Amino acid sequence: MMRIILLGPPGAGKGTQSQFISKEFGIPQISTGDMLRSAIAEGTELGKQAKGVMDAGGLVSDDLIINLVKERISKPDCANGCIFDGFPRTIAQAEALVDADIKIDHVVEISVPDDEIVSRLSGRRQHPASGRVYHVKYNPPKVEGVDDETGEPLIQRDDAQEDTIRDRLKTYHDQTAMLGGFYQDKSKAGGDAPEYHQFDGTQDIDVVKEQILSTLK
Ligand code: AP5
Ligand code: MG
Repeated sequence: MMRIILLGPPGAGKGTQSQFISKEFGIPQISTGDMLRSAIAEGTELGKQAKGVMDAGGLVSDDLIINLVKERISKPDCANGCIFDGFPRTIAQAEALVDADIKIDHVVEISVPDDEIVSRLSGRRQHPASGRVYHVKYNPPKVEGVDDETGEPLIQRDDAQEDTIRDRLKTYHDQTAMLGGFYQDKSKAGGDAPEYHQFDGTQDIDVVKEQILSTLK
């Protein structure tokens, strides 16, 4: 059993690195952002409630997210653990994990300064069905505009406009960034607490990957 939390600002590479960790350890990636985007695409009640907040770069309510995550981790593919990508994003969400007795083994924080994030996110392309992430310059698909494994078209997300990226960064600094310190303190206290590890996310994708995988092994 291995449960991992990936922390980091928008565009830090959480989705990119989750895919590598998922392959290496055979545990699923749980991206609350990807789940919300599929709910929007399917037109569900959750999707309707989430759309406005996501377009504005804010956070979806803790209650909705906590229920979504609890339901997801009860699925059989999470029996050996999972990777939380983009969750928790508030102290209340982190406390909900503790209250529900969901034990975390590792917290992996990927740090990238704000000025690098805007250029990264405008070049991102994603395969919506699998969550696979590309970048036109830093991680291009084999054939422009299509997914390597399925040949299906890649899309650009609705929240990739520069204004929205700046709003997402503000939300991150106001509500999420403090989770790094929160888990660092817990880790130092020892006991049942998760181990905390920090990585420099401005390095090449493969370098970050090697550092994370060798730390987790
Ligand atoms: P979410 O989908 O989680 O978005 P995010 O946190 O803003 O992060 P991103 O997915 O944009 O970036 P990433 O870190 O995954 O980076 P990626 O690997 O793609 O959330 C979206 C929205 O949903 C939120 O704004 C909120 O409204 C809502 N939401 C989600 N979870 C919630 C929660 N728990 N509570 C409340 N609301 C929630 O990489 C980015 C690009 O950079 C790619 O093109 C990639 O190829 C490239 N890249 C990656 N690493 C490198 C590298 N080392 N060097 C160069 N390029 C790189
Ligand atoms: Mg992501």
